[in-house]
Amino acid sequence: MSNLVIVGTQWGDEGKGKIVDLLASSADAVVRFQGGHNAGHTIVINSETFKLSLLPSGIVRQKLSIIGNGVVVDPIHLEKEIGEITKKNIDVNSTNFVISSDCFLILPIHKYIDNLREKQKNETKKIGTTGRGIGPAYEDKVSRRGIKFSDFKNYKILEEKFISIYNHHNVWIEKFEGKEISYRNDFEIILKSYQNLSQYIDNTWLLLKQLNDKNKNIMFEGAQGFYLDLDHGTYPFVTSSNTVAANASIGSGANPMRLKKILGITKAYTTRVGNGPFPTEENNNVGEKLGKVGNEFGTVTGRKRRCGWLDTLMLKKAINVSGINGLVLTKLDVLDTFKDIKICTSYKVNNQIVEDYPINLSEDLNVIPIYETLKGWEEETRGIKNFEKLPLNAQKFIKKIEILVGCKIDIVSTGPERDENIIMRKIFI
Ligand code: GDP
Ligand code: IMO
Ligand code: MG
Repeated sequence: MSNLVIVGTQWGDEGKGKIVDLLASSADAVVRFQGGHNAGHTIVINSETFKLSLLPSGIVRQKLSIIGNGVVVDPIHLEKEIGEITKKNIDVNSTNFVISSDCFLILPIHKYIDNLREKQKNETKKIGTTGRGIGPAYEDKVSRRGIKFSDFKNYKILEEKFISIYNHHNVWIEKFEGKEISYRNDFEIILKSYQNLSQYIDNTWLLLKQLNDKNKNIMFEGAQGFYLDLDHGTYPFVTSSNTVAANASIGSGANPMRLKKILGITKAYTTRVGNGPFPTEENNNVGEKLGKVGNEFGTVTGRKRRCGWLDTLMLKKAINVSGINGLVLTKLDVLDTFKDIKICTSYKVNNQIVEDYPINLSEDLNVIPIYETLKGWEEETRGIKNFEKLPLNAQKFIKKIEILVGCKIDIVSTGPERDENIIMRKIFI
């Protein structure tokens, strides 16, 4: 029996979906615990691509897939996603898919507010959200206005809650748009959607306890990445949930004492989609090449991802704060054609060398990354499955990262396909 948490260590899109799918072969359940359909997790099996935003990636292997209480759910989107994956012959039913009745809903007004706010901000202030209503939905949760699935027991009280949410936001919307949004149509739409989804809604903390009591293997699938965490990320250019591993317990009700293995997914370089600081960004042909070879376009919004070198200061903080005890290095193959490969080992901040990630990177700190340059391998590594078969310089690159960050790399991913991996050591499950 073991519980395994998978989290991103950078700004998301590290390849979490691929690794969750890989390890799901030995899992009994896969649980999402934060975020919402801002996530875009890609799985490639024999050239067929599956893109999941809200459904846990375990659904592709038909594993019990659970959406924990910490996730914000857009019911209309969820219905659509279930419809799309069903068309790809993946069965979603009430025995393999369960949503917590404690999940808060993303309502159409949240999406509207998310986009309106972004539109109003000037270019330097825009967060570059996915525009899916994530932030406003979490705000309503925190301010104790939000609507949960369990609120659908009593339609009269539910309608009152809708009215109070729409009244609250309409004060602001009216001011900027000169018109209010009526709750009634949205209420009807959400009600209908709830009725379609109600078969999946249940008490998931209890389900997780029962699974643990039966010594089942549970995997927790993080969304986004460490530096998008609301508390530990590059605030305000973050998402509105905690992406650190500890939230696996809060966002699902799972016993934290059971979370023994925490895998940090790390791209062999760094990308970021949306605005905010990025010390090792290569806003030049190196970044262009990383983006082109790595096909770095957002899964959710299609936006071009910003690209740069691997940053070990970032990794070290993520490893410590998330309690990561194993890394997965993804997209090694993307570096195949680079003559030189850089790894950031320290920063010069206001003329001082620092080896630990500083506080408040979002402030106007003058951060200059200091690099160690390694010789590239300039050979194809795509699909290699044994460490010894890797070119020597690729082996050196991997070993160098382990030394710099003080954590072992358990898996190296050498391509997008499910079986393109080097398994360096056995994972718990
Ligand atoms: P996630 O959000 O962390 O699940 O990552 P995304 O799915 O948004 O982005 C990762 C992208 O890289 C996807 O298109 C994957 O198919 C792809 N990918 C994952 N691992 C590898 C790898 O080792 N090599 C290459 N070339 N592509 C990979
Ligand atoms: P996965 O799970 C990369 C980014 C957005 C924006 C910021 C806030 O695929 O790794 P939000 O819509 O959450 O309020 O946007 O967070 N962002 C992601 N970037 N991968 C993700 O998820 C992301 N989810 C949100 O681009 O900068
Ligand atoms: Mg993604």
